[in-house]
Amino acid sequence: MKYRHSFHAGNFADVHKHVALLALIAALERKDKGFLYLDTHAGRGAYDLSSPTAEAAAGIARLKVAALEAPELNDYLGQLGRVRAALGHPHLYAGSPLLALSALRSQDRAVLVEFQGGEAHDLGVRVREWRDAVPGGAPAQVERGDGYARLKACLPPRERRGLTFMDPPYEDTRDDYVLVREGFAEALRRFPTGVVCAWFPVKEERVARAFVASVAAAVGGRLLAGELWLFRRDSRVGLNGSGLLIANPPHLIAERMAAWQAELVRALGGGADSGSSAVMVSESNSP
Ligand SMILES: C[S@@+](CC[C@H](N)C(=O)[O-])C[C@H]1O[C@@H](n2cnc3c(N)ncnc32)[C@H](O)[C@@H]1O
Repeated sequence: MKYRHSFHAGNFADVHKHVALLALIAALERKDKGFLYLDTHAGRGAYDLSSPTAEAAAGIARLKVAALEAPELNDYLGQLGRVRAALGHPHLYAGSPLLALSALRSQDRAVLVEFQGGEAHDLGVRVREWRDAVPGGAPAQVERGDGYARLKACLPPRERRGLTFMDPPYEDTRDDYVLVREGFAEALRRFPTGVVCAWFPVKEERVARAFVASVAAAVGGRLLAGELWLFRRDSRVGLNGSGLLIANPPHLIAERMAAWQAELVRALGGGADSGSSAVMVSESNSP
């Protein structure tokens, strides 16, 4: 596997998925009882943006200078600033594991799975640095392995509350579409009330629609699709948009997502071909 998330860290899709991730964590934290955060494709946890890539310049760098209203967008920037301050690195971009650890409480628990040895090693180092800087947070276990396989071992969680976050690369192969669909179904079979969130790329409209429909058919239940796009959705050239499928979305997540996604598109400088949507693609209780 050649995928390196460092080439993409802080791009508009990262911003989109990380705002959503923190909004889901905040929603679960409305209750005191702890929960499991399972990150099946964790990456290395932090990325150096001292020399920003073009992707980061068109993503997180735009957001910093924008005046934002949605609490979800401000919470995201606040957590990112917290990780940067704790690790003493003002130009770092925090990935899903560190943003989550910044938001999780001592009664919560994180399992962070990464397949590539080098990335998993770096993640372990970052998590230790975080713990040293901010003691007393949620316990976190870093595992090198296959995130899809670890779904089976980790679910249902002993807390009986959980958020599973699936963020695979979808590079070079379409396999991740199949694996995410099967992973979704497996996660919900084992733990029907858990919140599951998976990212997917929006490149071609046809592929994105077929993927959403196939997950809805496989899992049923309450399934929300939140999408944001900056470019025409029918060109194969690059990443045109960013999508998230969320099973068992907590109360008001869909309504709030519609609001903050629209603001995010504006903050990212989206033009005539940009847009966003937050739609329940399935409401039924059985697949
Ligand atoms: C898009 S990146 C993840 C970024 C991370 N979630 C974040 O938000 O910072 C995808 C990661 O998944 C890893 N990966 C690919 N296949 C995997 C698998 N089957 N199990 C676990 N990790 C995998 C890749 O090595 C890569 O680091």
